[in-house]
Amino acid sequence: MSDPRLVGTEIVDSVIDTIGNTPLVRLKRLTELEGIECVFAMKNESTNPGGSAKDRPALEMILAAEREGLLKPGGTIVEPTSGNTGVGLAIVAAQRGYTCVFVMTDKVAPEKVSLLKAYGAEVVVCPVAVEPSDPQSYYSVAERLTEELGAFRPNQYDNPHNPEAHVKTTGPEIWRQTGGRITHFVAGAGTCGSITGVARYLKSMNPDIKIIAADPEGSVYSGGSGRPYLVEGVGEDFFPAAWEPELLDDIIAISDEESFLTARYVSEREGILIGGSGGMAVAAAIKVAKSAKPDDVVVVFNPDSGRGYLSRVFDDAWMANFGFLRECDQCVGAVLDARNASIENLLYVNPGQLVSEAIELMRSTGVSQLPVCKNTPPFAAAEVSGSIDELELMEAIHRDPGVMSTPVEKVMGPKLPTIGVGQKLELAVEMLESAPALLVLSGGRPLSVLTRTDVLAYFSAVAEAAIGGPQRG
Ligand SMILES: Cc1ncc(COP(=O)(O)O)c(C=O)c1O
Repeated sequence: MSDPRLVGTEIVDSVIDTIGNTPLVRLKRLTELEGIECVFAMKNESTNPGGSAKDRPALEMILAAEREGLLKPGGTIVEPTSGNTGVGLAIVAAQRGYTCVFVMTDKVAPEKVSLLKAYGAEVVVCPVAVEPSDPQSYYSVAERLTEELGAFRPNQYDNPHNPEAHVKTTGPEIWRQTGGRITHFVAGAGTCGSITGVARYLKSMNPDIKIIAADPEGSVYSGGSGRPYLVEGVGEDFFPAAWEPELLDDIIAISDEESFLTARYVSEREGILIGGSGGMAVAAAIKVAKSAKPDDVVVVFNPDSGRGYLSRVFDDAWMANFGFLRECDQCVGAVLDARNASIENLLYVNPGQLVSEAIELMRSTGVSQLPVCKNTPPFAAAEVSGSIDELELMEAIHRDPGVMSTPVEKVMGPKLPTIGVGQKLELAVEMLESAPALLVLSGGRPLSVLTRTDVLAYFSAVAEAAIGGPQRG
């Protein structure tokens, strides 16, 4: 019960009371710039106290655990998370007197660890490079700590109170804020809590409302095999409990490049700082809104703020290195254009192929280095596992001829240094002083190997063109 002294004031009882009731904001500039005729608005979840939509399920999962006797006063919450859910749980735990222990891998950015610690949570960091069954893996450590501490494990991927939070709050808010006129709802899906919860509510009010999932290319929801992508927080390589495809009218796959560039576009043009997954949702929503009728109301769900992605999506150097940005006209890509390089035609070997096969490929194509990549093209940057080099292979075979019939992964060297297709040629020249070859990325994907010979050939072609064709002596 709230304090009677607050009656007649606008003081809320605690930070928990500021979760939800986020604004629904018309994307006016985008509407004009994109030639959209319908009403196009964003449900902006970055205004929650923890900065994301995850405050809602965090609160709901904790309240349910209290009701169900799974969480006793002064108890402990253990969850393997590094992201927004951790922040939401930490906020509610601080307010209600629980201890939070978050388990994460050493791959997580240090500021994410600091953020959770800032809310008083304990953070246990586990090595990423171990199998899930290893006792040191973050799954195993989370299991062990839950057991040892007699802790409550919310498990957002399985917990029915995750989608329920959105059935109870987000869905009704959107219905009320649009006066029941919403026709389309577009959102990314991670655990599927948000999209499933909102869809359940909206379809119960009006079954004609179209629910559209935006999904990273590679994720299983849009038919991918779970291959890696760079957008954070959305898409999966498995189907969680809240995945309810019968609620979805369409699923639109969006590339990392489109997601990131749209996040920057929305932030710059609307003054609403959004992250990569928000960019992905808006990219899909623009497509939906462009084909909507003037009376339609399209709502896009923005899960969090771009502040969490300043060192990635909003960092020009990071973006350029993955080949998402162009820094110049005559850049690295110009060298490759001369060779008609394409992502589909990348020369590569799989880690399991034999060294003899790799040598045959190098011989028949006349290249001296090959990237070692898992799966088949188009590859994600994260699928590059190493490289092979003719000089190193020659030495290895000289020492032991048996190397010819071993898999490439046994003898491969480190990954080639990467450069973006839109980065300056000067940078390539500088990097090639210490590396025999570079791997050029375009749109986050390996495009081609770039060698000193390639750059020399390009320079001489440019010089010849400048003096009116090849000089004959
Ligand atoms: C940044 C971001 N976007 C989107 C989502 C997806 O939301 P949900 O898990 O409810 O599907 C998440 C979930 O963690 C997220 O962190």
